[in-house]
Amino acid sequence: MATRDSEAACFSSPNKQAERTQALHECFSIPRPFRMNCPIYPDTLVDFLHEPEGLTFSSRQSVLNASSRHPGLFERQFPLTSAHPEVGDFTAGAKSLLPEDPDIASLFPDPCQDSPPPTADRLLQRRYGDPALDRRLPPNATIELILRHHSVRSFLPDQPVSDEDIRFIVAAAQSASTGLNFQNWSVVLVRDKNRKNRIATLAADQQFVRDAPIFLVWVADWARARAIADWNEAPSAGTEFFDSTISTVVDAALAAQNAMIAAESLGYGACYVGAIRNNLEPIAEELGLPPHTFPLVGLSIGRRNPSDRAGIKPRLPQGAVLHHEQYEAPAPEAIQAFETRIGAYYLSQGNPHSWVASVLRRVRGVEGMEGRESARDVLARRGLPSR
Ligand SMILES: Cc1cc2nc3c(=O)[nH]c(=O)nc-3n(C[C@H](O)[C@H](O)[C@H](O)COP(=O)(O)O)c2cc1C
Repeated sequence: MATRDSEAACFSSPNKQAERTQALHECFSIPRPFRMNCPIYPDTLVDFLHEPEGLTFSSRQSVLNASSRHPGLFERQFPLTSAHPEVGDFTAGAKSLLPEDPDIASLFPDPCQDSPPPTADRLLQRRYGDPALDRRLPPNATIELILRHHSVRSFLPDQPVSDEDIRFIVAAAQSASTGLNFQNWSVVLVRDKNRKNRIATLAADQQFVRDAPIFLVWVADWARARAIADWNEAPSAGTEFFDSTISTVVDAALAAQNAMIAAESLGYGACYVGAIRNNLEPIAEELGLPPHTFPLVGLSIGRRNPSDRAGIKPRLPQGAVLHHEQYEAPAPEAIQAFETRIGAYYLSQGNPHSWVASVLRRVRGVEGMEGRESARDVLARRGLPSR
């Protein structure tokens, strides 16, 4: 890791500062002067922007190549990378070095502080960082609400979600499309502090799950249909197929997303919690779920704490997800451009982080599964073998 002295020396070079500013302008098309005063990151950020392979670690070799072109970069930016070059933990050491930098943060302004609220074209620009999308679009309240989405992980204490709002939120969930109108999902509303606490501990110990006034657990549910079969003394082996599991998952996910949008429209913040699947069986037990059901995803909802800094998080360029007529393999350049932009977003949040590295970590093998590798066995034990 570089010493404070060498970092200060890098920072004090006026040429470096001009280079940084230029790189930021090019990358983000920022039409205004941009001042960087972060003592650690400026040089690294230039490397982000100028090094085409810098953060796209398709192999150990690409790490070594980039590292040799930028001596000191990896030690400075990612102190743990040398131990695990392909999937190093980017955050641990770097995080402790990152000072507050309001200028970086201003690249990704707080969407809740905007006054007046940004129009659809500005929101599109923020989502993609693509100036070509910055043109006037007709106002559309629904699309603007959806484009403004950002997960909220910090909630005001003692600000409940009213019963009336919960009715609206669940009505929105039930208004989602549902396969064959079977509605094979349920939702468990958790308000009890002790239960939320236990669930939070089981779900990767995420504090915001404790803090939010309500936690909704979306449940994939074949139990109701099985009960109908039982009452009619009819067989129900059709629930055992993989496609049956998929259909409940789709139904529950569509319902949950409608609920999130409804909650946001009512002025609440929300965040999904997939980490409940790290401990499927204990969570199912905690909620008293019957056989032929399983907890799919949680949703914390509450009033956003204004100190929450989350902005509109960049997404892949549309060309990477939208295919015309037939699927096309993704262009590495599109992924690289996204990696740069989202890298800057994470920096703006004080959480230096590589998106590519997290993808690599997740797809690498069983070690990226965080206990979820046994999900199919758990489902089988719960009467949904998914064969
Ligand atoms: C199925 C699912 C599970 C998620 N699980 C978690 C979680 O356990 N913890 C968390 O902090 N965020 C979780 N998220 C939120 C994502 O991290 C977030 O949606 C993503 O980073 C994009 O950011 P944005 O929602 O602010 O646009 C989850 C999202 C989804 C869709």
